[in-house]
Order: sequence, then C-alpha cells, then structure tokens
Amino acid sequence: MKVTIVGAGAVGASCAEYIAIKNFASEVVLVDIKEDYAEGKAMDLMQTSSLLGFDTRITGSTNDYSKTANSDIAVITSGIPRKPGMTREELIGINADIVKSVSASLIEHSPNVTLIVVSNPMDTMTYLVHKTTDLPKNKIIGMGGALDSARFKYRLSEALDAPQSDIDGMVIGGHSDTGMVPLTRLATRNSVPVSKFISKERIDEVSEATKVGGATLTKMLGTSAWYAPGAAVSSLVQAIACDQKKMFPCSALLEGEYGLSDLCIGVPVILGKNGIEKIVELELDDAEKSKLKESAEGVSKVNDLLDLKK
Ligand SMILES: NC(=O)c1ccc[n+]([C@@H]2O[C@H](COP(=O)([O-])OP(=O)(O)OC[C@H]3O[C@@H](n4cnc5c(N)ncnc54)[C@H](O)[C@@H]3O)[C@@H](O)[C@H]2O)c1
Repeated sequence: MKVTIVGAGAVGASCAEYIAIKNFASEVVLVDIKEDYAEGKAMDLMQTSSLLGFDTRITGSTNDYSKTANSDIAVITSGIPRKPGMTREELIGINADIVKSVSASLIEHSPNVTLIVVSNPMDTMTYLVHKTTDLPKNKIIGMGGALDSARFKYRLSEALDAPQSDIDGMVIGGHSDTGMVPLTRLATRNSVPVSKFISKERIDEVSEATKVGGATLTKMLGTSAWYAPGAAVSSLVQAIACDQKKMFPCSALLEGEYGLSDLCIGVPVILGKNGIEKIVELELDDAEKSKLKESAEGVSKVNDLLDLKK
C-alpha cells in the first residue's frame, strides 16, 4: 500500500506520522514545493522508526511526481492555511490553482489513485477536483466532517464529564464556521441521547463551540491546527487501505441524495477499498434538513467563485 501526501507542512507531516505509527502502509511519499522540505520531514520521521516500532518507509520529494507513481491513495494538503481572523473561504484563489495542478500531476502518475482533499475551502476544493479530473466520483473524498465530529465528541465529553470513548456524535454539512451541522439529536453516551445528561442550553453551547473549533485553535496557535486534522486524515486513509467499511462524514459529490446535487458537502459515507462505497442517507428532522439546505447554499456560493474553465 503506497500513500502519497502532497504538502509536507503541519497537516501533511502529522498525517504521515500517524499513518506510520499505525503501521498499515508499506510506503508513504511526502511531496512539497519547498526545496528539500519533504525530504527533511521524511528523514526526521524515519529516525523515529526504531523508537516507535513501525516499518512504513517514508520518503520525500521536491515536486518530483515520478516518485509518487502507482500510489493507491493520495492526500492533498498543499496550499496555504488560514491566519487568525481569516475564514477558510478566503483561501480559495491561491489554493484552487494549487489543488488543480497537484491533482493533475498525481493522476498522471497514479491513474487509479483515490484522492483525499484537505486543502481549504475543502468542500469547494473537492468539487474542483471532481470538475477538473476524470477520476470516478467514489475516488474523490473531502476530509472535514471526520475532524469536525472529533471536535464535537471532545466538546460533548467535556460537557458530560465523560470519557470520549463513551461518546458518539457526528457533524455533517459544509466544513466552515457557519456551514457545520452538529447532529445533537443523534449524539449519544453509550446509546443514551446526550439530552438525558445535559440541558438544551449546554447542548447549544457545545454545538457552537464545535462550529468554531478550527477558528478557536487558529487564534490560539497563530495558524490552523494539525494534530487532529492529521489524525482524521490518517483514519480515512486507513479505512480505505484496510477496506474497513467504516462510516465517516466526508465531503462527497451529491447527485440527489439529501435533495442536493452538483456540490460536495459533508454527509455520512462508508469508506472501503473502493473509496466512497455508499452515501448513507439519514432521516433528518425538519430543523436539521433546513440547516443542511442552508449550509449547501453557502457551499454553492463559494463554488461559484471558481473559474471552472479548463
Ligand atoms: N479539511 C480540514 O479539515 C483541514 C484542517 C486543517 C487544515 N486544512 C487546510 O490544509 C492546508 C494545509 O494546512 P497546513 O497547516 O498543513 O499548512 P502548511 O503551510 O503548514 O503546509 C502547507 C504546505 O503546502 C506546501 N505547498 C504549497 N504549494 C504547493 C504545491 N504547489 N505543491 C506542493 N506543496 C505545496 C507548502 O510549501 C507547505 O509546506 C490548508 O489549506 C489548511 O487550511 C484543512
């Protein structure tokens, strides 16, 4: 199993580290445009191999895509992250050009690759890859909901004073401060609805804290977060590489599901060796449906900013 990660920055390197520690991939190739940067990150990570006990071989390359040939899975984290006060949508101009050229180079050397898009604004970047490449739709996956759901579970565990392993919850919708839809009605502690443990006001606070989870960290760190994003990507890569058939909310191209079409947005999907093997349609209540519709309108507005002429 060969995995390429383009962008050896904060998220890309953290993702490579978690994939290596989980020890399921034979090879990880890091690619970056900065001279020697990916090679340096790869060397540093390889020097943890005997200490951490993994056998994954990590190599680096400065923009030489021949080194990525025949990758099974590739992750696109190349681009600029947001600074405090910025929205993810403000990154569109620079990142769209980067994502378009990087996805073309990856596919040229690995025509059967499954792509995971991380660069922001992620739903729009995922849509861009659908529009500008010939990959089948099950092989283009946007990572956002897995991270947002992990942040939701973290906030719920705090509010319930419960371990995260007791908590289940999911965030669907667009990967943006206003677009996320934390499914509070369906969140549980060991199958018991969280509303049995905390008030509606507290649940609303959790929901709001989840939606601005990325912005909160960006303000604290001066750049966007990387540990949880890297871990979330590594979980998607593992689900595909190991054919786990696990369910994650991912940005997927919708063609009528949830009454939406011609956009990529976060919905629960089953991930296995064929990438997105199924889009799971939940029975949402009216309030959830209208939040998802509003979120989709926001994503479509950002998509409209793309120059989709090839
Ligand atoms: N989807 C999510 O949930 C999520 C979470 C966190 C970050 N992000 C996004 O991921 C992206 C990366 O974030 P980061 O914190 O790792 O940023 P970073 O600046 O640490 O790393 C980005 C790397 O991309 C490289 N790069 C730029 N252009 C390139 C090109 N054409 N080819 C190859 N490499 C190139 C840069 O040299 C840099 O090393 C940002 O767009 C950020 O907003 C998304």
